[in-house]
Amino acid sequence: MENIVLIGFMGSGKTTIGREIALLGGRFLLDTDHIIEQNMGKSVKDIFASVGERGFRRVESQLILWLSANVKNAIIATGGGMPIHNDISYLGKIFFLDVCFEHILERLSIDEKAKRPLFTNEGEARRLYNERKKLYEKQAQYVVDGDAPIAEVARQIVECMEKRVEKSPPI
Ligand code: S3P
Repeated sequence: MENIVLIGFMGSGKTTIGREIALLGGRFLLDTDHIIEQNMGKSVKDIFASVGERGFRRVESQLILWLSANVKNAIIATGGGMPIHNDISYLGKIFFLDVCFEHILERLSIDEKAKRPLFTNEGEARRLYNERKKLYEKQAQYVVDGDAPIAEVARQIVECMEKRVEKSPPI
């Protein structure tokens, strides 16, 4: 069974939606940031501070290779930059959680923003969001309305997997 791969901007709810899908049963959630943090014994923020963004992206690329060779039937919540800096097409079915920037600002607490090195400045984060939106759409097989209620988004994603639709309009 193919993996469900969730992509989208920081704070778009990839981990939360992934957990909701996992609760429906049959699949476990893997969060790429958490895997990297566990393996390096440091937070993403500290990894950026010690090896820079380039070092972090290098680890992400290695993780993609490992996941594609070893993981099936999982839900993979990716870090927001993973599909921007790498080809992830062979990881599974890719769902872009499309959430408006204002909603992201509301969702992320000050602490959550502080954990993310690329979200320290709101203006810069907004610029990055606008720059990346098209790239997420390009990488995704499905564009999901991530502003919809969590349970609804999770249900639609699972339904899409079951129908095995190859390419869909936004759901
Ligand atoms: C990043 C997103 C973060 C994390 C890192 C870089 C990005 O993950 O991988 O801070 O480039 O968008 P989340 O999307 O889970 O916040």
